[in-house]
Amino acid sequence: MNRKNLKIGLFGFGCVGQGLYDILNKNANFPAEIKRICIKHPEKKRPIDLSYFTTNAYEILDNPEINLVVELIDNADEAFVIVAEALKRRKPVVTANKKMLAEHLAELLALQAEYQTPLLYEAAACGSIPIIRTLEEYYDNEHLYAISGIFNGSTNYILTKIAQENLSYEVALRKAQELGFAESNPILDVAGFDAKYKLCILTLHAFGLLVSPDKVFNYGIEQFSLQDLQYAKEKGLKVKLINHAERVKPDEVVVFVMPQFIDSSHPLYHVENETNGVIVEAAFSQKQIFIGKGAGGHPTGSAVLSDISASLYNYRYEYKKCHWNKHLKFTEKVLLEIYLRYNEEKELAHIPFEHISELYHSENYKYAVGTITLKKLHEIKGYLQEKNMFIAYTGKKIQGLEAENLQETKQTILEEIL
Ligand SMILES: NC(=O)c1ccc[n+]([C@@H]2O[C@H](COP(=O)([O-])OP(=O)(O)OC[C@H]3O[C@@H](n4cnc5c(N)ncnc54)[C@H](OP(=O)(O)O)[C@@H]3O)[C@@H](O)[C@H]2O)c1
Repeated sequence: MNRKNLKIGLFGFGCVGQGLYDILNKNANFPAEIKRICIKHPEKKRPIDLSYFTTNAYEILDNPEINLVVELIDNADEAFVIVAEALKRRKPVVTANKKMLAEHLAELLALQAEYQTPLLYEAAACGSIPIIRTLEEYYDNEHLYAISGIFNGSTNYILTKIAQENLSYEVALRKAQELGFAESNPILDVAGFDAKYKLCILTLHAFGLLVSPDKVFNYGIEQFSLQDLQYAKEKGLKVKLINHAERVKPDEVVVFVMPQFIDSSHPLYHVENETNGVIVEAAFSQKQIFIGKGAGGHPTGSAVLSDISASLYNYRYEYKKCHWNKHLKFTEKVLLEIYLRYNEEKELAHIPFEHISELYHSENYKYAVGTITLKKLHEIKGYLQEKNMFIAYTGKKIQGLEAENLQETKQTILEEIL
């Protein structure tokens, strides 16, 4: 691609679109320019010349001068149509839309292959942390055991404000929205969907495993109460919304998102506000931690810029792990230890714990700590939500990942490799 001639058709001029515009404006030497911007509401006030804007997607898609589509809208279904149409016209695409990506990964892999046109999406997972390209390039020949972390800036911001400033959940959420950290639909953040979409994308790049988001258990922070906070504080713990994709057996990967108690020895204990943290555990490089801003116009815009820059050199993802790890399967057959706060005595009978190690009940506060399989937890998710129960993984026990078994799993993976 001619370095002087990158003409961008931009979809969306909200938090990230404007962040990108701003960054490009401050990089006068960057060999790319925005030619046209497609938005939804023409009546809205815009901070730049109105001649840029259109509401007709085809003014970008069918414009022969535009050789890169940057998709930054907040509607996943409409985004998929835009991205698919652009790829079919052999226009490379950069997107930040994790929901659209996670829900259509298989189709998007096929479209890229059929039209030999790249789709890049670094900004879709963990904002400014360059984790996708790191998994693709740095870890391309490395055998990964696990990828985990805080993947949602908005919930981490809310949990931090509640714990540090005693803000109510509602006030903390409103602040996150005002600062542009939250998705237009906040349920996507606070119920753990946004984090799950990112986890599905990273599971593909880390393990070569395509997992549909509907299969993955996610539980969010909407039910988090002052009692849960008090419980954590008394034990010197913090609550974080943590994602896990881990090989629990050489051929099985467990994938889930839920609140987790972590102590001060945990690498993400000090990761606060909208910052994200990703932990990668691998056979040879061992444990590595990546920390950076997970949301906001400029941090996310910078990841988009990096993809635009990569597309100048025709960079594309190779998805090597998909060819290597064909034997890997998704599983929910693991035993987790969780804390569960419930409201009425009779509710406990509906929770299929394998074993309860701690039980407390007073008139206003009841909780149990015990082990449960992820599969059963997933099956009763509706009941947990209906009864407004809060759950948190204690992080202490996953069958197959207890100290001894984890060693065994790692040993078997290493033996397979060597
Ligand atoms: N905000 C973040 O920190 C962050 C971080 C990582 C990834 N992302 C992702 O980045 C994307 C954009 O997020 P955002 O926070 O920038 O959203 P936003 O502030 O709500 O802006 C959305 C933009 O999309 C436009 N739009 C909606 N539907 C459209 C359509 N069919 N055609 C053309 N334009 C359309 C809207 O137009 P109008 O201006 O006319 O309403 C608006 O400009 C989302 O996929 C989000 O998940 C965001």
